[in-house]
Amino acid sequence: MKQIASAQLREMFQSFMESKGHHRIQSASVIPENDPTVLFTTAGMHPLVPYLMGTPHPAGTRLTDVQKCIRTGDIDDVGDASHLTFFEMLGNWSLGDYFKKEAISWSWEFLTSPEYLGIDKDRLAFTVFEGNEDCPRDEESHAIWRSLGVKEDHLFYLPKQHNWWGPAGITGPCGPDTEMFIITDKPACGPNCSPACSCGHYLEIWNDVFMQYNKQKDGTFIPLEKKNVDTGMGLERTICVLNGKETVYDTDAFTGILDAISRLSGKNYRDDEATTKAFRIIADHMRTSTFILGDDRGISPSNTDQGYILRRLIRRAVRYGMQLGMPEGFTCEIAKVIIAQYAEAYPELERHSAFVLEQLALEENRFARTLRQGNKEFEKVAARVLAGGENGCIDGVSAFHLYDTFGFPIEMTVELAAERGLTVDTAAFQENFRKHQELSQQGAEQKFKGGLADQTEETARLHTATHLLHAALRKVLGPEVAQKGSNITAERLRFDFSFGRKVTKEELAEVEKLVNEAIEADVPVVCEEMTVPEAKEKGAIGLFENKYGERVRTYKMGDFSFEICGGPHATHTGELGHFKILKEESSSAGVRRIKAVVTGPQA
Ligand code: ALA
Repeated sequence: MKQIASAQLREMFQSFMESKGHHRIQSASVIPENDPTVLFTTAGMHPLVPYLMGTPHPAGTRLTDVQKCIRTGDIDDVGDASHLTFFEMLGNWSLGDYFKKEAISWSWEFLTSPEYLGIDKDRLAFTVFEGNEDCPRDEESHAIWRSLGVKEDHLFYLPKQHNWWGPAGITGPCGPDTEMFIITDKPACGPNCSPACSCGHYLEIWNDVFMQYNKQKDGTFIPLEKKNVDTGMGLERTICVLNGKETVYDTDAFTGILDAISRLSGKNYRDDEATTKAFRIIADHMRTSTFILGDDRGISPSNTDQGYILRRLIRRAVRYGMQLGMPEGFTCEIAKVIIAQYAEAYPELERHSAFVLEQLALEENRFARTLRQGNKEFEKVAARVLAGGENGCIDGVSAFHLYDTFGFPIEMTVELAAERGLTVDTAAFQENFRKHQELSQQGAEQKFKGGLADQTEETARLHTATHLLHAALRKVLGPEVAQKGSNITAERLRFDFSFGRKVTKEELAEVEKLVNEAIEADVPVVCEEMTVPEAKEKGAIGLFENKYGERVRTYKMGDFSFEICGGPHATHTGELGHFKILKEESSSAGVRRIKAVVTGPQA
């Protein structure tokens, strides 16, 4: 296959689409405008939704672009061969203009023509939608591929799970898609091998979505008057497959970045597994952070929403940087390489480079401070263990505390311990880690429906207030009240709970009074680990009971509140100051929402 560079593919794709009457449009911001449902732009179609719904686009009905996309759902998987939190998506769009015939023919031409990608026709395979009770089998797309000369055994009908695109569960434009795959040198995994399997014989590079329905609130699909085409080709992945590279990190998207990491750390990308993983995490996270900070809507690291994700990315990169022995300020050095690499395609990065570098330096510094506090904590633990009685071994709970509270990766704890002739109970650490992950996964599932975005004292206090509110609501309205979600920022809490009608003013006043009494009682907030059956027997309220592992954390506040919960919380209810309900409203059918604040300890 043709060897092709990222910049070349970007240009080639868009100029091909221009030759078919498309207008180039700029990538939209990675921070969506007026869309509370997602934190980042996750696909090329995202910023174009209003136009897919019928608003005329100023550039016309045929558009092409390269969109900056961020997907952070799998952030903890980054480090393997394929996960990326940032990628570029090439796309072409028909806004009520052409449909399947043109879209598929042009995809075919771009993939196979020697003037463009020139892929051998026998190395391509395609999937189309097999149909279900809502929408018929996409025989039209099948017939178009056949008419272009695609053989029957290179064409697959697949179910909705594979060949459907659109808003999941909500309303809006959607429809069947047809996906394009490269057949690799890796042998098929068996006689039933198809593009639906992940054995690596087929690798997807492009997706043409045919938005022909508008999904209604009642779940029915109404054909759209003006049908649209939305296509997406992931740039990094396509470059990887076309150039026969083993992973996306072996492509030119990463060469310069990995080189910089190597230069700064004195290590090599392929030294050993742990080093390879650290290189990948730093490269990926720094690329994403640079694009978030260098966006026209660039934001700073913070404890909520996009800023929180940004903080997580930077801190994780710094942690792995320390593991590699990178010098202080390395995030800026890497960002400079990234900005230079992408300056031509994304000039905004250079415009905002001062901001990018300033914010990275600040965040690296802040995190270094936390880590220094962690070092003090480590010294205490080490002194205790050295004093004897523990066989020179740091226990798993202490190692986990260092990780959880101070961001100490276990590798770092082991290394520091070794310097003092100590060992670490890493198995016990892993056990604690696993337990914590189960808890935080529940948090992640809740995120943006709810959950605790950060771990500051303010949010811990509001989290404690949430438990008191939950208990008070059950006392005033009855035990049928159950938590449906919560969302806590440093400023306020939001609590959703099941209840069938508006809560009266009198009831709200009573709830407020009970919470404030519990605060005034200034009882300690007691955390205790126990098994789920034990917790139930003792009367704890469990929000995720069946999902919990063996042992869980519980938080008890006098005899007012007792919940299974991952924390963190205030240490005493008195720290909350005064509790005030700002608003009670409907959240959805059968669910009410309360917004409330606490004044904090000074009041
Ligand atoms: N919107 C489609 C995708 O992201 C093209 O795959």
